[in-house]
Amino acid sequence: MCGIVGYTGHREAYPIIITGLKRLEYRGYDSTGVALLNNGLKVYKKKGRVADLEENIIGKDLHAHIGIGHTRWATHGEPSDRNAHPHQSASGKLAMIHNGIIENYAQIKKELENKGYHFTSDTDSEVLLNFIEDIQQNNECDLEEAVRVALKRVTGAYCILLIAEEDPNTIIAARKGSPLVIGVGKGEHFLGSDASPMLEYTKEVVYVNDYELAIVRPDELILKNLGNEKITPFITKLDMELAAIEKGGYEHFMLKEIFEQPSTIQDCLRGRLNAAAGTITMAGVENNIEQLKNANRIMIVACGTSWHAGLIAEYVIEELCRIPVEVEYASEFRYRNPIVNKGDVIIAISQSGETADTLVALERAKANGAFIFGVVNAVGSSIARLSHAGAYTHSGPEIGVASTKAFTGQLAVLNMMALKIAKAKGTITDEYYQQLLNELQDVPEKVASILKNTDELQRIAAKYKDAHDFLFLGRGYNFPIALEGALKLKEISYIHAEGYPAAEMKHGPIALVDENLPVVFVATKDSYHEKIVSNMQEIKARKGKVISIITEGDLVSPTISDDVFSIPPADELIAPLLSVIPLQLLSYYVGTLKGIDVDKPRNLAKSVTVE
Ligand code: M6R
Repeated sequence: MCGIVGYTGHREAYPIIITGLKRLEYRGYDSTGVALLNNGLKVYKKKGRVADLEENIIGKDLHAHIGIGHTRWATHGEPSDRNAHPHQSASGKLAMIHNGIIENYAQIKKELENKGYHFTSDTDSEVLLNFIEDIQQNNECDLEEAVRVALKRVTGAYCILLIAEEDPNTIIAARKGSPLVIGVGKGEHFLGSDASPMLEYTKEVVYVNDYELAIVRPDELILKNLGNEKITPFITKLDMELAAIEKGGYEHFMLKEIFEQPSTIQDCLRGRLNAAAGTITMAGVENNIEQLKNANRIMIVACGTSWHAGLIAEYVIEELCRIPVEVEYASEFRYRNPIVNKGDVIIAISQSGETADTLVALERAKANGAFIFGVVNAVGSSIARLSHAGAYTHSGPEIGVASTKAFTGQLAVLNMMALKIAKAKGTITDEYYQQLLNELQDVPEKVASILKNTDELQRIAAKYKDAHDFLFLGRGYNFPIALEGALKLKEISYIHAEGYPAAEMKHGPIALVDENLPVVFVATKDSYHEKIVSNMQEIKARKGKVISIITEGDLVSPTISDDVFSIPPADELIAPLLSVIPLQLLSYYVGTLKGIDVDKPRNLAKSVTVE
């Protein structure tokens, strides 16, 4: 989950690389480094963020027309200058950056040490680089061939970019399991973990596939497989503007992304939902409707926030479509030899489309004959390409590490999907179908009205920001929202928080309750409302502090709560799209009041491309 950038062409490489790295910092920010080729290799690297490197290399010779850069999320070896990428080979003539994990690095390292190699870092990446150099020297082959031989030997995941003094115009790149995009310009090429580093230069990109190797020169892009056979690069047109990856006047990307939700949900519904006509158009669902409506079982595979969206989808699909649904953590699913039968459908949910656990889980399920439907945000990402069919969430680039707008996009897509299957299956009445269509259409406006009223959430955040623990409780469709509220708070405020089904609280967590514990109830009006009000009473009776997210017009909950925040009424299936918004804001305000960089909280990375 590191970020990589490369450039070869007629422009100055350093400014392109450094700007690209800033855009990719969401992928990791433990250290930063660049390698430039101009009369020999120049490598500059530093523990910390891109800004730390920039400060550190003022006055250095940065002139070059080719270079590579890396922003690291540490796996092998602590964050430090010496573990920062790019690494240089033993001869000093090759420089390489790597995103991924070489699983059999220890064995290869031993072999190299026996040959007299010494290593200057603790990384698996430096091992791979020296392995490549060693093959090149022993086999007397060119670098491209040495890379091919080395990659056939390694296990694990990688995206590597390599430059060599002997060939000062060429970047050699390869991927397996970690993303790589190549931007095609006139007399220049750009390389990145995603397309953001190249947006202002080209809209033509090639998404490199696993086990492909790219030889990239200013005027030439050669793509090959590891068997040395040429592959014709498939050029895709990018549909993304620079403004989408800039803060646009907001203090943080997270705040921008929270406030974008009326329009991102609208973008997700646009062209699909037509409430007046009573229709939902989703080609991915329509083209596979027999498979979907006749599924014996749906398995949802995801991680983190996307997993929470999957939990809500479980409730919605079972309710509307009467198909059994199981929701799986991808990291568990991939290792536990799950039973996937013919007739099962797997729904993969992922913002980035690159999460390693989800990707590998899907590869295994696909190899076993499962039908994969992807609900993905990042267009052209690995999970999107691996899926048999799918629906994009159209939430635009999400850069804040804490997922916000992608989550509501996922819910919107999954709701539409469930409605479409239910309609085709005949498991929903015409009246309820139409009601839910109308309500979905109103969601962007309701979200906008919630976002007009943030003062109260700022006040609540200031009141509780010093708490050591939080409990989030919800029932039914709002239970996963409680989980999501707790995850958001943990991620960006470092406060311990647990999400629980409200009724389950009395089976253990109630022991935590005292006058210092804030308990957030997601208690909008639904079929469980009276029950959750009783749970509030139980907390109040034990002197816990009750903060309630309620439906406008609820007169009972405020009498039990210390603090309340009201949101517009909605059917209980739709309510999570609204009830999550105040929780996103609450965590944002707590995190910023505590002085935390909420866009880049410690230890996290946006796209988790390691296991
Ligand atoms: O890109 P994905 O949706 O596959 O990512 C899954 C999780 O890593 C992600 O949701 C993570 O939990 C977020 N940081 C939550 O805010």
